[in-house]
Amino acid sequence: MTGAAGFLGSNFVKLLRRTRPAVELVVLDKLTYAGNPANLAELEGTAGFTFVRGDICDATLVETLAGEVDAIVNFAAETHVDRSLLEPFAFVQTDVLGAGVLAEAARRHHHEAFLHVSTDEVYGHVAEGRSREGDPFRPRSPYSASKAGGELLVRSYVESFDLPLIVTRGSNSYGPNQFPEKIVPLFITNAIDGLPLPLYGDGSAVRDYLHAEDHCRGIDLALHRGRPGHAYNLGTGVETDGREVAGAVIELMDLDRSAIQPVADRAGHDYRYALDVGKAKEELGWSAEVGFREGMERTVAWYRENERWWRPLRNGDYWEFYKRNYRALNTS
Ligand code: NAD
Ligand code: TYD
Repeated sequence: MTGAAGFLGSNFVKLLRRTRPAVELVVLDKLTYAGNPANLAELEGTAGFTFVRGDICDATLVETLAGEVDAIVNFAAETHVDRSLLEPFAFVQTDVLGAGVLAEAARRHHHEAFLHVSTDEVYGHVAEGRSREGDPFRPRSPYSASKAGGELLVRSYVESFDLPLIVTRGSNSYGPNQFPEKIVPLFITNAIDGLPLPLYGDGSAVRDYLHAEDHCRGIDLALHRGRPGHAYNLGTGVETDGREVAGAVIELMDLDRSAIQPVADRAGHDYRYALDVGKAKEELGWSAEVGFREGMERTVAWYRENERWWRPLRNGDYWEFYKRNYRALNTS
């Protein structure tokens, strides 16, 4: 499993430990700014758990580790759209080349399964209707283009080499252990610190907010029940815009609406993602169970109770990115 020290990866490891305790895990993670050993601290030293610090682009290392496992689950990626606008090639490197290195190793070792964690962002902005798994990719940011490129590359291994690939395309996730740069944890941690909530444009961009617990359960079901060669959309089907996210934080944290700071819009902002999740429901028996309100209540409580987890992440590098990003967006 790659990217296990990140947000969804660490939630997935914990789910596996609870539900499939016999599974032996070798995790590979580069520990970028988004990878946090604290996310895996409770597993360190436990039986059937091995942590390796390394890069999925390192073909020699991947080749060695691939010889020790039966399947690969790839969570590792550069993941933040705003960072991809500042440093696009880090995304191409990990999200395209890294995915290819893993697929190549899986092919050579005749693995039983290769699960690639993709995203609803590969479909790009969807003006109307809902994206289905067979729809074309229209990525519009370096992040989504890199995820689309990586997915196309690993999918080519299905046709070319019979790779037993399963892909999940999950929607925007939130929950415990999410680095405080995506909208939900950024707004919550800013609120705790008395800082404004920077809302892009008029706040009308729509996302489908999927709790990490639901997303990880969907990935697990796709791995165990999914058909090789197939992709599965994972989302709630509920559309929530930026104003509603800010509104939920304001209400749950008892803030004044003046906490919202409108900032210039993100370049190339995708204004709507919307998934048709019928295939996952029908074939995997999966559907999201945590509603937005409940998920936000739980997430606000988690960040309030785990300040020791997130406060060290808001360090010098973090504020440097913050200034670059939000200055570029004319916050002043
Ligand atoms: P994250 O940024 O929190 O974590 C990424 C992890 O990958 C980190 O632990 C990091 O150290 C590791 N990593 C990065 N580059 C690496 C490399 N070259 N080699 C090894 N490890 C590397 O990401 P996340 O939000 O947990 O997302 C996990 C996966 O889920 C990604 O593939 C992402 O595209 C996908 N996804 C995320 C969301 C979301 O809303 N968070 C939604 C849909 C899909
Ligand atoms: P984000 O959490 O970055 O996820 P993604 O862009 O990958 O969907 O952003 C979710 C939505 O929230 C998106 O419409 C952009 C918006 N947003 C803000 O309004 N302010 C912010 O500071 C951030 C990070 C995002």
